[in-house]
Amino acid sequence: MVVGSAVILMRKRSQIARLYSIAVKSGCQRSGIGHLLTNEVSRAATAHGCTEVRLESRIDNVRAHALFRALGYTPFGAPIPDYYADGASAIRFRKQLRPGISSRVVPEKADNSKIRSLDSNQAPPG
Ligand SMILES: CC(C)(COP(=O)(O)OP(=O)(O)OC[C@H]1O[C@@H](n2cnc3c(N)ncnc32)[C@H](O)[C@@H]1OP(=O)(O)O)[C@@H](O)C(=O)NCCC(=O)NCCS
Repeated sequence: MVVGSAVILMRKRSQIARLYSIAVKSGCQRSGIGHLLTNEVSRAATAHGCTEVRLESRIDNVRAHALFRALGYTPFGAPIPDYYADGASAIRFRKQLRPGISSRVVPEKADNSKIRSLDSNQAPPG
């Protein structure tokens, strides 16, 4: 069963990774999976040579903002107006990555053995 996912976009000529989407199944939220996924994003981006992760988040998504802030993301720039289909604005967050330093913080209830990352060297699951 898939309980959550995170999608990161990385480009060959950029050291900035973009956390494109992150979501945890509604019945599985608030048990640390979001933390695990977000930290895995940092790990994977660092492993690919990135020095920063950026993301956009809906201006009223306070739960997501709390998660990102807790894991070292800071807001930057002005809100982007009319970013979402319903006209809501987005706030941009970024986090500097430090090569060689793992940012894994595993909450007690979470089970990181379930976290599987895909990168360009791995085939997608069958
Ligand atoms: C944002 C989202 C990904 C967070 O995922 P999550 O799995 O609930 O995140 P976590 O469980 O790691 O942390 C969330 C909260 O649970 C708390 N928590 C973490 N581990 C815990 C544990 N073992 N016991 C109790 N609470 C815990 C965290 O402190 C955090 O508390 P807060 O909401 O008061 O800040 C999830 O809410 C989601 O999928 N939302 C819908 C999609 C979305 O908004 N995506 C973000 C787009 S930018």
